[in-house]
This record gives sequence, C-alpha cells and structure tokens, in this order.
Amino acid sequence: MPCCCYCWISPTIVLFLLSISHCASAAVEDGLLNNGDFETPPPGGFSSSGGVSGMGEGATTIPGWNIGGTVELLESGQKQGGMILIVPQGSHAVRLGNEAEIRQNLELEKGSKYSVTFSAARTCAQLESLNVSVGTASQAVDLQTLYNVMGWDAYAFSFDAQSDDGEDDVLAFRNTGMEDDPTCGPIIDNVAIKKLFTPDKPQDNAVINGDFEEGPWMFPNETLGVLLPTNLDEETSSLPGWIVESNRAVRYIDSYHYDVPQGKRAIELLSGKEGIISQMVETTPEKEYNLTFTFGAAGDKCQQPLAIMAFAGDQAQNFHYSPTGNATNQVANLTFTARAERTRIAFYSVYYNTRIDDRSSLCGPVVDEVRVWGTSSASGIQARLFGFLATLLVVLMVLV
Ligand SMILES: *[C@@H]1O[C@H](CO)[C@@H](O)[C@H](O)[C@H]1NC(C)=O
Ligand SMILES: *[C@@H]1O[C@H](CO)[C@@H](O)[C@H](O)[C@H]1NC(C)=O
Ligand SMILES: *[C@@H]1O[C@H](CO)[C@@H](O)[C@H](O)[C@H]1NC(C)=O
Ligand SMILES: *[C@@H]1O[C@H](CO)[C@@H](O)[C@H](O)[C@H]1NC(C)=O
Ligand SMILES: *[C@@H]1O[C@H](CO)[C@@H](O)[C@H](O)[C@H]1NC(C)=O
Repeated sequence: MPCCCYCWISPTIVLFLLSISHCASAAVEDGLLNNGDFETPPPGGFSSSGGVSGMGEGATTIPGWNIGGTVELLESGQKQGGMILIVPQGSHAVRLGNEAEIRQNLELEKGSKYSVTFSAARTCAQLESLNVSVGTASQAVDLQTLYNVMGWDAYAFSFDAQSDDGEDDVLAFRNTGMEDDPTCGPIIDNVAIKKLFTPDKPQDNAVINGDFEEGPWMFPNETLGVLLPTNLDEETSSLPGWIVESNRAVRYIDSYHYDVPQGKRAIELLSGKEGIISQMVETTPEKEYNLTFTFGAAGDKCQQPLAIMAFAGDQAQNFHYSPTGNATNQVANLTFTARAERTRIAFYSVYYNTRIDDRSSLCGPVVDEVRVWGTSSASGIQARLFGFLATLLVVLMVLV
C-alpha cells in the first residue's frame, strides 16, 4: 500500500497525511478473500469428522472467518447417505447448518461499489436459499434452480460500501432454512471480491458497458461462468449499467472457456423469458436510433435453435441465429424512434435451451457489443439554429 512510505515522516505529518488520505487502512484487494477457498487448515488441522461448531459469537475455528451455529468444514470425497458431497474447488468447503452463518470483516472504501463472487451448492432436494449480506445490503440467493449438472454454481452479489471510515463492513452468508435434517444446508466455497467501476459512456454509443467487459470477479479457471441473479438496482449492479430484471439469472462468461464475440466477457442468456437483462439509455424524444448487437453461440454444446428477442422502446424483434460459414456470431440491428429521454433496451432468449450432451445444464445465446446510436445531431443543431435566427428576426422587426 502506498501509505507505508510515509512511515519515516514525523508523526504530525503522518497524522495530517492520514487525515487527508483514505489509505489509513489497506482496503481489501480484488480476488480471493482471506481463506476464501477454506483450504487453510484450522488450528488443530482438518479433522476427519469435519464438524466445526460456532458456539456463539466470536468463534474462530475456521481461519479468517467468524462462525455462528453449526458450520462444517467438508473434505472432497466425503459422503452423506451414499452420496458424495460437492466441493466446488480444491479439497475443502463449508456447509451451513440450520440458521448457521459465516462472516468475514472487510475493509472497504466507503461509497465504492463491490461485487462478491462465491460458489454454492445444495446438498438435499429441499428448498435452499442463502442470505448474503454486507451491512444493510442483502440478497436472498435462490439455490433451488440448478443451472448445470455439476450441482454447484458461482454467483455474484453486489453492494455499496456504507460503513464510516475505520469501521469494517461485515460480509455474511447465512442459511435461512430450518430443515428437519440439519445436514441439508448449502455448501459455500471460493469467495472473492472485486471493486466495480462504471465505464464512461462512449461518445458514439448511448449504452454503458455495452461490451460487458466490466463485471464481477471471475477466477481465470471459472469454467462455469458466474451467475448474475435478479438485481433491479442499476446503481449497485454486478454488471455496471445493466440490471437483471427477471427472477432467473443470466450467466457472465469469459473468452477462456466460451466463444465470446468481442473482448474477454459477454452475457449468455439462460431460461428463456425468465432471464432478462436491460438498460435505460439516454435518448432524445422523437429522434431515430439504431440498436445493434452481436449475438451467437457460446461454444458450450448448446442445442439449437438459438434466438434472441430484443427490445428498444416500443420496438421488439426476434433474431434467429443463422451464422454464415464458420462464424459463431452475427450482427443484429433494430431501428427505433425514441419517445422519451430514457429508452429501455432489453434482451432475452426466445427458447429454453439445454446442452446437447446433458439435458439439465441450461445454456442459450450470447449477447455482446450492444450499441445505440442516432443520426448525427446535425439536424438538432440546425433546428436550434433556425429557431434562434427566427427569434432574432422577430426581435429585429419589433425594434424597427
Ligand atoms: C484454479 O486455479 C488455482 C490456481 O491455479 C487452483 O488453486 C484452483 O484449484 C483452480 N480452481 C479450479 C476450480 O480448478
Ligand atoms: C438477510 O438477513 C438480514 C439479517 O437477518 C435481514 O435483515 C435481511 O432482510 C435478509 N435479506 C433477505 C433478502 O432476505
Ligand atoms: C471453416 O472451417 C474449416 C475447418 O476448420 C476450414 O477448413 C475452413 O477453411 C473454414 N472456412 C472459413 C471460411 O474460414
Ligand atoms: C441490419 O440488419 C439487416 C438484416 O437483419 C441487414 O440486412 C442490414 O444490413 C443491417 N444494417 C446495418 C446498418 O447493420
Ligand atoms: C439505421 O440503420 C439503417 C439500416 O439498417 C440505416 O438506413 C439508417 O441510416 C440507420 N440509422 C441511423 C440513425 O444510423
């Protein structure tokens, strides 16, 4: 951290510098949290039985985390009722019993937006939901829908850091369930964080983050992408500029594991009409605009046909995926006339697609490079100039 270099300066100067800078304490860095993968052995080593009990507040038997209730450290290969428990990454993960929770204090920059990425799996068939929170922000992440056959997925949760300087924000994962069988709680692994920034609006494009390059933390080997659950607040979206307005998630994918039309990131639309992303773009009423975007196949053996429904203001159109030659994507466009100062653009997948080789993994068309642009503003300037000249003429006539 840059503030360390002030250490030799006299204490008064240090205090002064600390008061004007926010680097009084080192804010958390992007990436895996302290023991975010639960691979650090607890003080007595990993026990073969696995169980670690919270015994109320302040128990720290899992390095880096505070636990409450019955939290169990699982080891890969561990069985329950003949079924091997899922450990999403590495050799260890935690399971939360009824109303159990794990917490970690984070030093965050007040007013900054962050996104937490974590992997979660459910253990039994019951309804499972996880309450993820930081300060007053919280989200109930539904683990009931299985998006792939591996039995686990990575999810993103975003929030605004609100604690005053000097105070820590507390990230908590809580199992809100009360199952008859307390071993039916969700499994958590691979917890990481990323500070988000909102890209500037490009000059020739009304869409913010239209290339989806800015989004939640993704591990370089995150082969399943990251699910973005419902988030109606565009101010604290894991996908800056966009909201996920449906009750199902969409998938954030990278170019290392999927076919991404442009750059390193894109969105794969899952669950048909139940997976919608949208953005309100700034427009001038009565002006004509073109919405263009690239869409295609993700290269994840998705059963065709693929099609996207695109909306722009009062226009809606279905685009079928029919690439030419070896291409894995194509360009689509939609012309619309804006009716207000903000116009909604939105996308969903027309079909409910699953993989060819595995009918329980959801997939769908990929969308990328979204642009909205209008005819050159020349006509607008001309109209204003004409209006000004006309007024001037009237004023002159009155004066004469
Ligand atoms: C991802 O890579 C890291 C470091 O290379 C490794 O420790 C981890 O086990 C990998 N995770 C998965 C899910 O393969
Ligand atoms: C999550 O838990 C917190 C603390 O108990 C509660 O205030 C919040 O309403 C819960 N959030 C959701 C979305 O259920
Ligand atoms: C399409 O792919 C085939 C096989 O990979 C290759 O031989 C051919 O040249 C490609 N065609 C074009 C137009 O790129
Ligand atoms: C818009 O799409 C149509 C086909 O859907 C295509 O013929 C046309 O060239 C496209 N126009 C632009 C400006 O991309
Ligand atoms: C929109 O695209 C159409 C062709 O699809 C083109 O004729 C028109 O000029 C474009 N409009 C703008 C505002 O660029």
